Amino acid sequence: MFTLAIANQKGGVAKTTSAANLADAAAEQGARVLLVDLDPQGNATSLTDATPRLYEGNAFGKPQQLTVSDALHAAQERQGAGTQAGTVFHVAVPAGEHWSARLQVAPANQDLAARNLDQFGGADQRLALGLSGDGVPYDLAVIDCGPALGGLFVAAMHAADAVLLVTEPADNALEGLPRTVEVLEAVRAQRGSGAPRLLGVLPTNVARQTRPTQLLGFMRDTYGPQLLEPVPRRAVVRQAEGAHAPVRAFGGPGRDIADVYSRLATLVLEAAGVRTRAEVS
Ligand SMILES: Nc1ncnc2c1ncn2[C@@H]1O[C@H](COP(=O)(O)OP(=O)(O)OP(=O)(O)O)[C@@H](O)[C@H]1O
Ligand SMILES: [Mg+2]
Repeated sequence: MFTLAIANQKGGVAKTTSAANLADAAAEQGARVLLVDLDPQGNATSLTDATPRLYEGNAFGKPQQLTVSDALHAAQERQGAGTQAGTVFHVAVPAGEHWSARLQVAPANQDLAARNLDQFGGADQRLALGLSGDGVPYDLAVIDCGPALGGLFVAAMHAADAVLLVTEPADNALEGLPRTVEVLEAVRAQRGSGAPRLLGVLPTNVARQTRPTQLLGFMRDTYGPQLLEPVPRRAVVRQAEGAHAPVRAFGGPGRDIADVYSRLATLVLEAAGVRTRAEVS
């Protein structure tokens, strides 16, 4: 399984939109994909209409949702046991009806916020442990990071093979990138494995006005060939969000956006070494 983290410290730059639509597109191309919601806001869970399983939680008998937070807790308990935990797979549920049948989601809710403060030994490793195991049932895991560079983000950097930076070409949004890259580089130095590598920088929500176009030019100068095909700004993206559906479900009006995510998915699957349906047939 190849693990890709979608990141930018800056909020509201289309990380979740990109994570979910990319994951869906990869699944539509034949890959078995797990979208991991690593944001206590739970936006990826809600966008994909994923319904967490319930378990008898506390002493008051109130059912609790089974989420990534539980998976990290379970990984913590298995840490040091010398076994590969795979606990994130145990909380996965299917995405809602509008999404690819091959897409599953490891859901999140507010419980995950406490994990950001987790300082117990080995906290950095727990997500990686939760995503490892024998007979992993996925080809690709896409981690939707929240807009912060805390403990959960560092854990994502330890679990990821590659990172996709997502940003709007807006002055304030671009500020988050260098800080995000700094943490990425720090973890790379620590892991010493060359991972996670930067897969690319994805400009999103790109309006056709002068300033975004200028900023896109600056980004091209800064990131060179790592700058990926931009995702244009379209009202249909918010409509799709409201309908808890992928943009591709909206046909014509969403076609160009869906196509950009589909080409990005092909690139990711190539990087992951996953053979797509088109290649197999
Ligand atoms: N290409 C686009 N065109 C128009 N709107 C977009 C586009 N991409 C994303 N949006 C909208 O921008 C808003 C923010 O997107 P999203 O939630 O994906 O950002 P985020 O980076 O995940 O935010 P957060 O940092 O809070 O997790 C959403 O309402 C989304 O529908
Ligand atoms: Mg988000």
